[in-house]
Amino acid sequence: MADFKGKNVMVTGATRGIGLAIAEEFAKAGANLSICGTNQAALDQAAQTLGAYGVKVYTQRVNVALAEDCEAFVQNTVKELGSLDVLVNNAGITKDNLTVRMSEQDWDDVIAVNLKGTFLMSKAALKVMFKKRSGNIVNISSVVGEMGNAGQANYVASKAGIIGLTKTFAKEFGSRNVRVNAVAPGFVQTAMTDALPEEMKAKVLDTVPLKRFAKTQEIAKAVMFLASEDASYITGHILAVNGGLYI
Ligand SMILES: NC(=O)c1ccc[n+]([C@@H]2O[C@H](COP(=O)([O-])OP(=O)(O)OC[C@H]3O[C@@H](n4cnc5c(N)ncnc54)[C@H](O)[C@@H]3O)[C@@H](O)[C@H]2O)c1
Repeated sequence: MADFKGKNVMVTGATRGIGLAIAEEFAKAGANLSICGTNQAALDQAAQTLGAYGVKVYTQRVNVALAEDCEAFVQNTVKELGSLDVLVNNAGITKDNLTVRMSEQDWDDVIAVNLKGTFLMSKAALKVMFKKRSGNIVNISSVVGEMGNAGQANYVASKAGIIGLTKTFAKEFGSRNVRVNAVAPGFVQTAMTDALPEEMKAKVLDTVPLKRFAKTQEIAKAVMFLASEDASYITGHILAVNGGLYI
């Protein structure tokens, strides 16, 4: 496992699911964590889980769609942890519907959190990373951002946008020694996929060569690889962790 002892890692949307698994993987590797989410009680619980690894944990309620929230989160993280080495833009939402039935509000909401949130939090973190001339950003895209998906125009556009943003950031920030990559997960075993009817699960799994959903830890390990020194010459890369669903 990569060593992140003493490194300071920010993860957005880390109260549960993939974000919490990412934070936990970094905590196991010795990193201090700064995590945000929308629910304070869930943040407190996540802080307890992460604190058990003997690392520092800072939590803040944040709406990543708001510039002032992102700025405050980065500033408070630096104040509490001392610096910032890694940012993982994981916070994301879905508001699915076929395009003919998708409201303008649902379009705006998903783009605001998933795409604008990734832009705003990265911009806030950059100020710190540029100053110390080192840093690392890992964005969470999705396989549907690469292949499209009926009923998810807003979500797919946001996740495809994150791929474009990742490649552009990599080109803009490389000379300041800031690497930027993304992970594009396929189907992941979460509360959402657990709740699918067995018949539907079987149908979905039929399309996945590895014939199973990803564990959240498998996404987390890919994120950690990209953020680690093992990936020191990798930037602008979109790492597929999809069991072969899209090749
Ligand atoms: N679950 C999957 O199968 C899957 C597949 C591909 C990609 N992804 C992506 O992985 C990421 C995590 O997915 P998940 O299934 O763990 O989600 P989840 O719904 O379990 O958790 C989302 C997290 O984001 C936070 N959040 C939501 N809106 C926010 C906002 N405005 N500001 C700050 N935090 C906010 C929530 O508090 C929560 O901590 C998302 O970006 C998602 O699009 C998930």
